[in-house]
Amino acid sequence: PNVPLVDPFARPITYLRVSVTDRCDFRCTYCMSEHMQFLPKRDLLTLEELDRLCSAFVGMGLRKLRVTGGEPLVRRNIMEFFRAMSRHLGQGLDELTLTTNGSQLGRFASELASYGVKRVNVSLDTLDPDRFAQITRWGRLPQVLEGIEAARAAGLRVKINTVALKGFNEDEVFGLIDWCADQGHDLTFIEVMPMGEMGEEQRLDQYWALSDLRRRLEERLTLTPLTERTGGPARYVRIEETGQKIGFITPLSHNFCESCNRVRLTCTGELFMCLGQEDRADLRAPLRASPDDALVRQAIRDAIARKPKGHDFDYSRQHVAGQVSRYMSHTGG
Ligand code: GTP
Ligand code: 5AD
Ligand code: SF4
Repeated sequence: PNVPLVDPFARPITYLRVSVTDRCDFRCTYCMSEHMQFLPKRDLLTLEELDRLCSAFVGMGLRKLRVTGGEPLVRRNIMEFFRAMSRHLGQGLDELTLTTNGSQLGRFASELASYGVKRVNVSLDTLDPDRFAQITRWGRLPQVLEGIEAARAAGLRVKINTVALKGFNEDEVFGLIDWCADQGHDLTFIEVMPMGEMGEEQRLDQYWALSDLRRRLEERLTLTPLTERTGGPARYVRIEETGQKIGFITPLSHNFCESCNRVRLTCTGELFMCLGQEDRADLRAPLRASPDDALVRQAIRDAIARKPKGHDFDYSRQHVAGQVSRYMSHTGG
């Protein structure tokens, strides 16, 4: 049973992103529609069921578990899940972490640290309170900044995730870099992906290739590429002037699927083999069919055996291809 998971393209699958809820207290315009229909609670897996699935993955060679959402910290009793998962640390699992909008970190940061979480990724697209309220549809920036501060105070490393949006935060990249240098946070820029429902024109309007952002940085700063990786898709550089680390996640301008090591589990027990494809496998039925995990393990192996080569997202030639209609919030990015 302990044969590691390897997909048809010889990529070892060692990273699971688990979306523990589809709900979020914000509605970032590129991540959720304004009037989101949330899943009925009865469709959700219980935390015990999520534990069983994630633990099955750990038994199959998982090294890294990232809890996402929606917003993971709005799921009721989510600390129990972190506590439960912490038992795998050092027992196969190297890293237990989360991606969050930061709004609840003030309440949970120190407890997360006590369960072995060492780093958190916090989504933050702007440092301007009005813009923040606009992109999140009602979020309060100070609450998030307090959350980030609480994370630092709890000894967690913070990585800020900024989605690069043309005409929205173009003029803020140097400000964000300075702020992160000052606060001691890492920073990663992300290209916006064509997920959810949005017109082609609007998508093309907001897309900003990170190759272009990078050229702009290089007009003022010296960037040295780093070979180190964090197990995710980001490529990092060091800014020589400040010594800080900046990451680029470039699904569009520089495809990284070749080194993919991850799959995604939703809060209803669907396993998505690729962020950019619709294919999914149901793990809830085998989970509920028997208290023994043999069926679950088989379903996971069958799913990994059909992991696709990559996404088909493409923005070139003033046309958007490869879109998927589900929003990022469904699978947690
Ligand atoms: P670390 O490297 O551990 O810091 O994290 P990560 O980059 O894997 O996770 P994070 O949640 O910070 O991911 C940031 C964003 O990168 C995600 O929300 C997605 O937008 C994008 N991303 C992560 N994994 C993939 C992937 O497999 N494919 C694509 N196309 N984008 C991804
Ligand atoms: N394209 C790129 N990144 C996205 N995120 C949400 N929707 C998109 C999208 N369409 C990001 C969030 C968060 C991470 C989980 O995914 O900003 O940082
Ligand atoms: Fe992996 Fe699919 Fe993401 Fe490419 S788009 S890195 S194959 S999950």
